[in-house]
Amino acid sequence: MASITIRNLDGAIKERLRLRAARNGRSMEEEARVLLGQADTPDLPVQPASLKAQSPISSGTLAGKRLLLIIGGGIAAYKCLDLIRRLRERGASVRPIMTKAAQQFVTPLAVGALAADHVFTDLFSREDEQDVGHIRLSREADLIVVAPATADLMAKMANGLADDLATAVLLATTAPVLVAPAMNPLMWDHPATRRNCATLARDGIRFIGPNRGEMAESGEAGEGRMAEPLEITAAIEAFFKPAHIPLAGKTIVVTSGPTVEPIDPVRYIANRSSGKQGHAIAAALARLGATVRLVSGPVSMPDPEGVSVIHVETAREMKDAVEQLLPVDAAVMVAAVADWRAEAQAGQKIKKQPGAKPPVLQMVENPDILAGIGHHAERPRLVVGFAAETQDLLANARKKLEKKGADWIVANDVSQASGVMGGDRNTVRIVSKLGIEEWPDMSKDEVAARLAGKIAEALEIIET
Ligand SMILES: Cc1cc2nc3c(=O)[nH]c(=O)nc-3n(C[C@H](O)[C@H](O)[C@H](O)COP(=O)(O)O)c2cc1C
Repeated sequence: MASITIRNLDGAIKERLRLRAARNGRSMEEEARVLLGQADTPDLPVQPASLKAQSPISSGTLAGKRLLLIIGGGIAAYKCLDLIRRLRERGASVRPIMTKAAQQFVTPLAVGALAADHVFTDLFSREDEQDVGHIRLSREADLIVVAPATADLMAKMANGLADDLATAVLLATTAPVLVAPAMNPLMWDHPATRRNCATLARDGIRFIGPNRGEMAESGEAGEGRMAEPLEITAAIEAFFKPAHIPLAGKTIVVTSGPTVEPIDPVRYIANRSSGKQGHAIAAALARLGATVRLVSGPVSMPDPEGVSVIHVETAREMKDAVEQLLPVDAAVMVAAVADWRAEAQAGQKIKKQPGAKPPVLQMVENPDILAGIGHHAERPRLVVGFAAETQDLLANARKKLEKKGADWIVANDVSQASGVMGGDRNTVRIVSKLGIEEWPDMSKDEVAARLAGKIAEALEIIET
């Protein structure tokens, strides 16, 4: 909703609004908003036109962004007039706060005219406190910009002082803060300013500039000149630009963990896969923006964050689950799927009979999930398989690549000595038609992040 400036109301109306707001336990601005929502109320004839509001601009790179601009008392304050214009041109609303010293350099009248908003100057203003209040000022901003940030203002910020409106707002805010320092090079280089900048950077304050150049007031040159309005605008635009989410809109199916193949209701054939690598890959793909469907065999790990998980037990269940998820953009088959299962599962626990021979298990082959996906009519554009081998790693991986119709095989040595099965580290090679990429020993999370990045790149290339 647009901002409302109560101070422009007629005195008598303002007094009645104040009383009514106090009665209802609201601020005057909140009360005015309530009244504007019920414009025909006979109680108080507030005309919407009498409330000054910034007209929201719905287009531009900063459309809808609420900026609180704190103007410090430096000679570069005059550049703020241009900065406000640039920001408003791009659709931002700019609510200005001026320090006492800032008003020595530019007038609130000029700043207010360009911002089309009330200029806030006084921590102890009865009207401003009732109208908006310093706490609300600090909360109702998507970004606070301090320009120029004088040496004095930065020193106060670094030390948590709050003896005027600007510093009280800066101390009370949870909004991100961008400062554009501007001062004489000697002030900028002073150890106190260096210390304060380091403190502010540690506190998460962002900086733009200062630049090297001539000082407006002294004819001196050096580092300390405020960044130009267009540079500050670009920094603000960069701040709001959504981060590149390379896998946004992509759906990827991942399998993880072992499968377990029952022999009877209490016994099963399984393997040592922990699911750590597959789960880490699912999480890494989700972090890059993919919609990840994880089909997991029984593991003791929690479901990865941001991933929808289908829990299965046997290879046949895993195959069905994966195929039901098609079509997808990519499939990453990490699960250690049992190659065989017992041909028949006993309905009751197989009993040990005195003097009888141990039972003989007749095994049959399980479906090959990777090959099924690699040759499927709805084959994903990228199919990645894992080859867990204990010998002839690369030869086996190359064979698997061909036979299974995969694009890449991530080959890892799972011999007992490698400690990969159940461990936290992995050394993998990526085998593709183009050759072999050897990756150094890494944590499974690092392998996952790097593989997710490679998948994102590959999908981008396939698409273009
Ligand atoms: C003509 C003139 C120009 C000034 N320019 C700067 C300046 O560019 N940067 C700065 O840090 N202080 C500058 N100062 C000093 C500040 O105005 C002074 O430290 C003031 O207390 C800062 O107030 P603030 O904390 O409200 O910004 C200047 C003073 C004068 C008289």
